[in-house]
Amino acid sequence: MASISSLLLLLPFPLLVSLCRASDDQLAPSKALIFPQDKLISKNKVFALGLFSLTTNSSTRSYLGIWYNKIPERRYVWVANFDNPITNSSSASLVVTNRSELVLADREGRIYWTSAPPPTAITTDDSPGGTATLHNEGNLVLCSSNGSFLWQSFDHPTDTVLPGMPLRMNPRKDYAERLVSWKGPDDPSTGNFSVGGDVRTGFQFMIWNGSTLSWRSTAWNGKTFISSYVWNDNNIVIGTRIVAEGDDISLTYTVSAGSPAMNARMSYTGRYEFNIWNSIASNWTVLYSFPEYECDRYDSCGPFGYCDGTEANPTCKCPDGFEPQGARPSGGCARKMRLRCGGEDQFVTLQNMKTPANPVLVRNRSIDGCAAECLNNCNCSAYAYAMFSTAVSGGDPSRCLLWFGELLDLGLYPREGNGENLYLRLAGSPATTKWREVAKILLPVVASALVLTAAGMCIVWIYKLRAKRRRKDALVKAILGYSRAPNELGDENVELPFVKFRDIAAATYNFSEDNMLGQGGFGIVYKGTLGQNLEVAIKRLSQASGQGVDEFRNEVILIAKLQHRNLVRLLGCCIHGDEKLLIYEYLPNKSLDSIIFDAANKDILDWPTRFKIIKGISRGLQYLHQDSRLTVIHRDLKTSNILLDADMSPKISDFGMARIFGGNEQEANTNRVVGTYGYMSPEYAMDGAFSVKSDTYSFGVIVLEIISGLKIGLTNCNGFLNLLAYAWSLWTDGKVMDLVDSCLAKSCSPTEALRCIQIGLLCVQDNPSSRPLMSSVVTMLENETTPLPVPKQPMCFSYWGAQGTGENTSSSSQNNTSLSTMMEGW
Ligand SMILES: *[C@@H]1O[C@H](CO)[C@@H](O)[C@H](O)[C@H]1NC(C)=O
Ligand SMILES: *[C@@H]1O[C@H](CO)[C@@H](O)[C@H](O)[C@H]1NC(C)=O
Ligand SMILES: *[C@@H]1O[C@H](CO)[C@@H](O)[C@H](O)[C@H]1NC(C)=O
Ligand SMILES: *[C@@H]1O[C@H](CO)[C@@H](O)[C@H](O)[C@H]1NC(C)=O
Ligand SMILES: *[C@@H]1O[C@H](CO)[C@@H](O)[C@H](O)[C@H]1NC(C)=O
Ligand SMILES: *[C@@H]1O[C@H](CO)[C@@H](O)[C@H](O)[C@H]1NC(C)=O
Ligand SMILES: *[C@@H]1O[C@H](CO)[C@@H](O)[C@H](O)[C@H]1NC(C)=O
Ligand SMILES: *[C@@H]1O[C@H](CO)[C@@H](O)[C@H](O)[C@H]1NC(C)=O
Ligand SMILES: *[C@@H]1O[C@H](CO)[C@@H](O)[C@H](O)[C@H]1NC(C)=O
Repeated sequence: MASISSLLLLLPFPLLVSLCRASDDQLAPSKALIFPQDKLISKNKVFALGLFSLTTNSSTRSYLGIWYNKIPERRYVWVANFDNPITNSSSASLVVTNRSELVLADREGRIYWTSAPPPTAITTDDSPGGTATLHNEGNLVLCSSNGSFLWQSFDHPTDTVLPGMPLRMNPRKDYAERLVSWKGPDDPSTGNFSVGGDVRTGFQFMIWNGSTLSWRSTAWNGKTFISSYVWNDNNIVIGTRIVAEGDDISLTYTVSAGSPAMNARMSYTGRYEFNIWNSIASNWTVLYSFPEYECDRYDSCGPFGYCDGTEANPTCKCPDGFEPQGARPSGGCARKMRLRCGGEDQFVTLQNMKTPANPVLVRNRSIDGCAAECLNNCNCSAYAYAMFSTAVSGGDPSRCLLWFGELLDLGLYPREGNGENLYLRLAGSPATTKWREVAKILLPVVASALVLTAAGMCIVWIYKLRAKRRRKDALVKAILGYSRAPNELGDENVELPFVKFRDIAAATYNFSEDNMLGQGGFGIVYKGTLGQNLEVAIKRLSQASGQGVDEFRNEVILIAKLQHRNLVRLLGCCIHGDEKLLIYEYLPNKSLDSIIFDAANKDILDWPTRFKIIKGISRGLQYLHQDSRLTVIHRDLKTSNILLDADMSPKISDFGMARIFGGNEQEANTNRVVGTYGYMSPEYAMDGAFSVKSDTYSFGVIVLEIISGLKIGLTNCNGFLNLLAYAWSLWTDGKVMDLVDSCLAKSCSPTEALRCIQIGLLCVQDNPSSRPLMSSVVTMLENETTPLPVPKQPMCFSYWGAQGTGENTSSSSQNNTSLSTMMEGW
């Protein structure tokens, strides 16, 4: 299990003062390191600092560096004097001067390296200098004698980043740290290749060959990136975290505690490699590297071409609406139809894309505003939109990126969820495009071009009108249950009132902000009053999300059919142009998370009420899984999707991601992992396998949250990685009642609470088949005498709230399988 110590390394500067404590692993002013024999060893014995020698062309050169103390195959993670080697190692020493600088020099007084240029004369008097300490994570830290932080090697990376070491950039100050490769395998001097942040936008990472760009990542889109591996029978989790604090942006890798030694290195071969120590084979292995494949290199596919990573041998392709230009597809692609600018253009959504090079960031835009921004500029060819969970510069979390002219270096990711939606501008609507192709064939056949043109114009007009009407009809039919998808819809018609858009607008004072209840999965929820006094909640699906229709359809059909007192009731729906709205019963007490995590409000829910809520949710789920005619898997259960009515009875809501199973189906797989990280079961988060047991897992998380009043997503949960780790540790220590929220102290029934915690832990077990069915859960909750199995330890996810720059490939070793997933930001 990972511990908090690996996470503490992530916190950048506030901790520096505490780094400056006295200990044995340090170099004090009076205690110079005399080479070649002297070394500093970190307290945990993992890292060593000293002088090492490399031989090229039969000449031996010595360098001051840091390496892994116990690993036989040397890897130097930091080198001080890489461009200034020492040729006679028997005369060199490292000292802290009385001006608190680290100086590497020889007996003749030649200075090879200092921590603070310009170099000064060396003195090792007794006058106060400072101390240098090699810390457990491989960081050499220099502190002045009064204990203030002066310098650290983590701020001066060479070719390697270690877990916990931030790579920083600041676009406003035109500053970005870069890792620079060695020149060759035994030559640490400045090589050709470097990797680092793109200062211009601050939203992507790049590899350069000299000054030429050779690879770039997709733009940062605010998602969490976690990759998880089974490595020599251990689970290891690598997280990539990008934190923006104002204009300061930093990227940090983290690994779960207990993992083998790992680092990321800009190799002298031009690849950015993630290395792991393989203790069985006793060598360093590359877990994954960038560029991933040949056409992943910068601009391999020419303008508008994209590198299709979903193929076994990735090749260049053209997006729909484009054709290859010239003989080879790597020559790029050209539009089949020229843009006409103005209202005639439309955007098509390309999913899971690596966004193009040279984005232009437009601040402070909604997604609709971002689309409008692009539409209004005739040179704009595409846009992409994201919201960050951490506020970027000026407290504006939006990230609207626009691209002008030709699009370069596009890619389609091999794994779902690693990329993002790119909205590409095309001429005309799909209907007219199709017609134009038909017309091209017809033209030579029909004699009179004039008549044809006239007729054509007329037909196009009618076609467009019809197509629009057809689309609307299809949607209405789908919603009413007439659509041809028998296994999902059955034959039954669903009676559901359609409400006029006018009436909804009136009910919500034209969707005024005062009426906003919150932001749901795919749109905003408003409170409204229909007719005289029917209070309703109205969910308005966001127009430009491009995702809404399927989810809308799903939700309408499902909820209209499902009737249970622990499911939220759908009262009606509305389609108006592109608007799609759902009308639900209004639940005055909002969502569970708004109460149990709110210090000021949490004592509204005493233990009997919480127990009732837990039981209610379990019954609602049992109905979804077993008792309705269909097997419905919710897939996005979380406390914010549990609404409370006037009596504090729970109602499960938000069925936008639910899936229906036929009679015999037990388990399914999806490429697109949807849901909320923390509530997702490991098998679903990592390889997209979901079943009723995935909902059971989410239920277990919710139970533990209800009891503890702690959020699953908190990284620092009383010092533990997350709530599950905390709960498990209390369970094994026999102190599990400590988990119960202190506000429940008076009302709590210890036997009930203990039972609930045990059930919660049973539900979050690693192995889906060990988790109980909801029917068993209901029985366990209702009947105090039902014996409970003993839970097994849950897998502990590392959990951090940002994203990564890339993706990964399978590990090369046969026994080591690799799983990866991208998580929604929060
Ligand atoms: C080694 O020798 C080759 C040619 O003999 C030269 O190009 C290279 O720079 C030398 N390497 C070092 C580290 O001196
Ligand atoms: C290296 O330095 C030591 C001490 O200054 C000296 O005795 C020795 O001769 C030097 N060796 C060479 C090859 O210069
Ligand atoms: C360091 O020592 C030198 C020589 O003893 C002295 O001249 C200088 O003032 C000292 N510097 C500081 C900052 O104490
Ligand atoms: C500690 O010493 C440094 C110089 O070595 C000085 O800049 C700093 O102000 C001092 N801090 C305190 C708290 O005395
Ligand atoms: C580094 O760049 C130089 C000059 O551009 C080139 O001659 C050399 O081959 C490059 N080295 C590698 C390893 O690519
Ligand atoms: C780097 O660029 C040089 C030319 O400047 C080229 O010869 C070499 O192949 C390139 N290396 C890589 C790995 O792209
Ligand atoms: C590491 O060792 C294994 C097994 O001995 C071998 O297959 C693999 O090629 C080695 N990897 C490297 C990078 O040397
Ligand atoms: C963003 O725009 C809104 C109005 O469109 C404005 O009220 C707000 O102050 C802007 N925020 C920033 C950070 O520019
Ligand atoms: C579009 O680009 C052309 C040439 O690149 C430029 O002259 C024109 O001003 C641009 N138009 C807009 C609206 O930016």
